Amino acid sequence: MSKYFEERVLSVHHWTDTLFSFRTTRDPGFRFRNGEFTMIGLEVEGRPLLRAYSVVSANYEEELEFFSIKVANGPLTSKLQHLKVGDPIIVGKKPTGTLVLDNLEPGRHLYLLGTGTGLAPFLSIIKDPETYDRFEKVVLVHGCRRVEELAYGETITETLPRHEFLGEMISRQLIYYPTVTREPFRNSGRITDLMVSGKLFSDIGLPMMSREADRFMLCGSPEMIRDTRQLLVEGGYEEGNHGEAGHFVIEKAFVEK
Ligand code: A2P
Repeated sequence: MSKYFEERVLSVHHWTDTLFSFRTTRDPGFRFRNGEFTMIGLEVEGRPLLRAYSVVSANYEEELEFFSIKVANGPLTSKLQHLKVGDPIIVGKKPTGTLVLDNLEPGRHLYLLGTGTGLAPFLSIIKDPETYDRFEKVVLVHGCRRVEELAYGETITETLPRHEFLGEMISRQLIYYPTVTREPFRNSGRITDLMVSGKLFSDIGLPMMSREADRFMLCGSPEMIRDTRQLLVEGGYEEGNHGEAGHFVIEKAFVEK
């Protein structure tokens, strides 16, 4: 039996010169937990060329969605960025990942901290009703260099609050905090700095972070993960994984060199 599902591209959306999203068909047998990633890719010269991608869509949706960078010389993304509706795409049958609710201890506030394409797994998590059952407030922080890279902003602020079943929960419990580092914007600075200074918490009207109340999921570049993790560990927060739930969990965002 093959390790991959063969799906078809249903739509492609280019956000910027370096960022795009696409939707594909979903085999009914493909099951995943919100926040997980799977291997996806293309068949190149008869062989599968695959990279790990977080699933953007929630696990109850009929289609799969992915959010990708475009790297001119990237073995996969240089090809993937030219995807057209109807093109075949390979999806690995074994999704996995640590950014799942079960890896976190109970708490009052869930902070989803993503930079760049590190936003992807959180888009799935904010569409999961379970997220709002477990936490009073869900804070989605997206850090980017430039304003145009704040992909999905409208989906989060306009579409999701009007969602037929989740709209009410989302309107009441989800706080979206986009922040930009290399040009002026209403919120600016690195996520780490905003946490240390306390500006993030005062801006959204929540108390300073505490081990008792707050849980964190991190997804970004290795440097972002390293620095944010250090900040949390120094504050006495414990990392969770599949064996044991903790105060925070991490996953590196996909980067192709
Ligand atoms: P900055 O512009 O100050 O480097 P990248 O595209 O390099 O992954 O960056 C995405 C966002 O993450 C940028 O806003 C960037 O800020 C920020 N960032 C980069 N490194 C770190 C880090 N070590 N800790 C927190 N944020 C970071």
